[in-house]
Amino acid sequence: MNTMKRKGIILAGGTGSRLYPVTLSISKQLLPVYDKPMIYYPLSVLMLAGIREIAIITTPQDAAQFQRLLGDGGQFGLTLTWITQDAPEGLAQAYILSERFLDGAPSAMVLGDNIFFGHGLTDLLASADSRNDGATIFGYRVPDPERYGVVAFGEDHRPRAIVEKPADPPSSCAVTGLYFMDGTASARARQVRPSVRGELEITDLLGLYLDEGLLSVERMGRGYSWFDTGTHASLLDAGNFVRMLENRQDTQVGCPEEIAFNNGWIDRDSIRDLAMRYQKNDYGRYLSALACG
Ligand code: DAU
Repeated sequence: MNTMKRKGIILAGGTGSRLYPVTLSISKQLLPVYDKPMIYYPLSVLMLAGIREIAIITTPQDAAQFQRLLGDGGQFGLTLTWITQDAPEGLAQAYILSERFLDGAPSAMVLGDNIFFGHGLTDLLASADSRNDGATIFGYRVPDPERYGVVAFGEDHRPRAIVEKPADPPSSCAVTGLYFMDGTASARARQVRPSVRGELEITDLLGLYLDEGLLSVERMGRGYSWFDTGTHASLLDAGNFVRMLENRQDTQVGCPEEIAFNNGWIDRDSIRDLAMRYQKNDYGRYLSALACG
């Protein structure tokens, strides 16, 4: 049994071409989703899973801007490692690029443009984390499964296949961009061959786990919201959703400072210092209130 601590990966490369011209000069994952950069949301998910060692994969040209935003992660009690991907050659390639960073540890990878929100998310993540062997993915019911990786279920309701963007979807269960894998992920990714579109597909990597009966599918039900911010409309929807929740509930969605504080990774003084930087807005006021208890 692998008892190494799980490490995190945020895949934040790609061209963002579906959002052109917005993303001609800036990485998609740095765009604002209401009041914070998009990458804060997937980063928060890994932090909620209790992960402190995280690699961020970006394009070579965008790396400096990401580093300006997040630095070494120390302000959030994290250790960040920066990795670049020269060309968007597939999601599964992230595990090859991260091989040295992972060094045989289990991992949780989240796509830099995926936003998750829901009551009980922390418990769901903890349950995935507790599985030392195999892989766990999270299924979400969608009206347009042909846009995603899709789970096909057998008569016994167990996953039978994972298919990437099927013209004729076998179910409405989309595979969200959050993948928990055991320490064999990088070695398995090396077995994946490029698809017709020239990418190392995550669905093929998941298929290797599935073939050995090592793939678990957790359903994210009604209580969860999942956004992939890949189009202009879905980006705006995600921003409006965050705004509505934050206003109605007087709370923050995807606030790394808050999660770090609640996890005991940074102290009250650190929160106060971080709040000083944002004095002019509600984000800063929220952090100040946290610091005052
Ligand atoms: O959002 C969930 C979906 O993400 C899954 O259901 C699919 O199975 C999975 O393939 C992926 O589909 P997308 O169509 O969203 O993949 P896309 O090529 O847009 O890449 C997702 C993100 O990952 C995007 O923000 C860019 C980044 N990326 C992508 C590739 C192919 C990289 O950083 N490097 C890459 O090589």
